Amino acid sequence: MCGIFAISGDSPKAGASVLKGLKKLEYRGYDSWGVCVRESKDGTVFIDKEIGKISTVRRNFPDGCEAIGHSRWATHGGVTKANAHPHQVGKVTLVHNGIFENYITHKKTLKTYKFLSETDTEVIAAMIDNFLHQGSTPDQAIRKAATQIEGRFAILVMVEGISGIYAARRGSPLIVGRGSNQTFVASDIPAFLEQTNVVNYLDDNEMVYVCGKNAQFSDLRTGDPVQKRNIEVPWKIEEAEKGEWSHFMIKEIFEQKETIARVLKQEDEKLLQAMKLLQESNGAYFIACGTAHKAAMAAEYFFADISGRKINVVPASEMPSFERFVNPKTAIIAVSQSGETADVLEILERSKKKGAKIIGLTNVLSSSIARMAHVHLSINAGPEKAVASTKAATAQMALLFLLAFTDVNKINIGRQILWATASSINDMLNPRYESWIRSVAERIVDHPNLFIIGRKSLYPMALESAIKIQEVSYIHAQGFAAGELKHGPIALIEKGTPCIVLGDDQETVSNATELKSRGAKIIGVSATKQDVFDEWLRVPDCNGAQAIASIIPVQILAYHLALLKGLDPDMPRNLAKSVTVK
Ligand code: M6R
Repeated sequence: MCGIFAISGDSPKAGASVLKGLKKLEYRGYDSWGVCVRESKDGTVFIDKEIGKISTVRRNFPDGCEAIGHSRWATHGGVTKANAHPHQVGKVTLVHNGIFENYITHKKTLKTYKFLSETDTEVIAAMIDNFLHQGSTPDQAIRKAATQIEGRFAILVMVEGISGIYAARRGSPLIVGRGSNQTFVASDIPAFLEQTNVVNYLDDNEMVYVCGKNAQFSDLRTGDPVQKRNIEVPWKIEEAEKGEWSHFMIKEIFEQKETIARVLKQEDEKLLQAMKLLQESNGAYFIACGTAHKAAMAAEYFFADISGRKINVVPASEMPSFERFVNPKTAIIAVSQSGETADVLEILERSKKKGAKIIGLTNVLSSSIARMAHVHLSINAGPEKAVASTKAATAQMALLFLLAFTDVNKINIGRQILWATASSINDMLNPRYESWIRSVAERIVDHPNLFIIGRKSLYPMALESAIKIQEVSYIHAQGFAAGELKHGPIALIEKGTPCIVLGDDQETVSNATELKSRGAKIIGVSATKQDVFDEWLRVPDCNGAQAIASIIPVQILAYHLALLKGLDPDMPRNLAKSVTVK
């Protein structure tokens, strides 16, 4: 949540470059924005901030070779100009991603400061400024303040009269980009990918001071120097850009033509390492949130069917009730696109301390979960920028499907099934298919309610379908286990209520018939057409991997429902791509 970005270099257009880079991080938060430039003429700082999305902003900034900026998803304090970052207190100007949990306690002690915002961030700026007044150097002041912060943070700090930019993190991501004449620090790589793909990953409790092309890393607690390796990230700029596509969401949906096949590149050795942890365990949990949780729920069925293993699936936010069962024999499989989701991270941190073994499946390689895991598996879907998770979800399911086959020493059979699935999804995804789904969207868009049912691994896909439709089209959508309908939800059905039916097995078709008898309009998503369907979205028969193919037409439907309602599917209200707060 929140994108932060800094540049220190030799170009006097740092302000414009920070604005441009921040636009590429907008998916992280988009309710307000701000940029601060250290002016070349006299070293003073110039701050420009506003409420609203950064994507449409055009600005001229004064010349300056150093700038920091922020695109916000509000946590503390409403969406106002005063609460937008950067925050300037005394000599300190600062942007922050994260949550300073004990800020009120510190705010009360800083009696000589007059706070202009309701944010926790302004308190960090005041703490640093206060330490400067007491005689600390900037890096000492930042260290002292950072050690008093409870919670997660990534901060970028400019100090009046001192060239260079300081950055520090604990719990929220920060990546340093190494250009030939300038250095970048950002929450995510797309901010600077146009300039460089050479990066240093900042770890928790580390700090960096960047000035021009130099970067000095140190331990945030002790100040001891830290050596960093330059890493070349394999991302291409096109992967992180919309290009010809009107939105990231539809681009990423169509990228599933390749991303599922890409999962097959996973090395056997890595899969076997992960399986070893699972097989040596005595009790295993999938921990995830939102869409990743639904992918994990589908995997619960994959493991049950393929390898006869029962794995508990718990949304990370509900895991505290079960943590007393976590011990050194527990295996936890954390599934997360971003690898930064706070609810998941907290469970992992505590479980690891208890000796549990962590298997992390993430898309972002440098993420906290990736680094915390005993075994990390990459879902390798490439940057996912739309808030609605699409290609990451199917890649997660594909990888978990392969893992279930690994459990019974049948990786190759898993690969063959996935290969066939990937190739039929490649055939399925074409402009004609999309326009057919758009026409279905046109016929249902005016209904305020929509229901989705599915059985077995298509039940979690019914839940996931609901998330997709809710988050981008704001239509009230709810998913149910097909067999549960008659135990209550069927009372919601009225004449014309659209109901998406995932699957064509006999029992689900009977449930569809029950819905239709009560007036529902049935939209079938299946390999075969059934008489009960009023509309049919064909998907290939995927031999056990049906969940992967079946969610894709619903992703397209959700996208077009959003467009038909005049909404921006890439930036739904109230949401942000990676939820780094609890
Ligand atoms: O980055 P993660 O996979 O951990 O994110 C988890 C959820 O926040 C995420 O899947 C969310 O539900 C999506 N926006 C839904 O499309």
